[in-house]
Amino acid sequence: MNDTQASHRAFLNRYYGVSRSFYDATRKYYLFGRDAAIQGLIRDPSWRKLIEIGPGTGRNLTLLRRARPDAQLGGIEASDEMLAHATARCPWATLAQGFAEDTPLRDLFGAPPDRILFSYCLSMVRDPCSALDNARRSLANGGQVVVVDFGDLTSLPIPLARAFRAYLGTFHVRPLDDTVLADATRAHFGPGRYYVIARFR
Ligand SMILES: C[S@@+](CC[C@H](N)C(=O)[O-])C[C@H]1O[C@@H](n2cnc3c(N)ncnc32)[C@H](O)[C@@H]1O
Repeated sequence: MNDTQASHRAFLNRYYGVSRSFYDATRKYYLFGRDAAIQGLIRDPSWRKLIEIGPGTGRNLTLLRRARPDAQLGGIEASDEMLAHATARCPWATLAQGFAEDTPLRDLFGAPPDRILFSYCLSMVRDPCSALDNARRSLANGGQVVVVDFGDLTSLPIPLARAFRAYLGTFHVRPLDDTVLADATRAHFGPGRYYVIARFR
């Protein structure tokens, strides 16, 4: 672990140590697009192994498990506080501490995953392009990376978008811009370009 990762991990532990117990109740009001992304994965029968990067409380993995009890599910989480929470909630998942940018994802199941999910995680990692590269390199043949996260907000009124960006910045969150989405095979934006659901191969 380098110094940047150590300070990111310490920040996440301070932040989520307090908020993990009420995280799910509050986030449903502004992490839009998550359920659409999860439903898309549930409708798609062509995968069996999925890793979520930054699973947080384990909310998304729990929904996937309910719909696909036969699938192998796992996660890589930078925050020890969130990892403890998800481990208690998802005893059937393979979870480990690690960073999106450089964790060897093929090692988690001992075989490459068919799907890698980033749900409101990529906007929080320090180097989102490296995290995406790491995920895409780790996929099984024909696999996909699925991203749902804050979009570029460019269809919102400018003062509102500016204020929201500043608010997100206080939590080390940067909405995804064109550079991060450049290689997406598909990208669908929600109203106001508030959120984006994107797929990568
Ligand atoms: C906003 S929460 C989203 C949690 C969950 N995916 C959801 O949709 O509710 C972001 C999660 O990503 C984790 N995270 C942030 N940076 C990370 C990194 N570099 N590598 C792995 N996980 C990271 C955080 O600890 C947190 O659990």
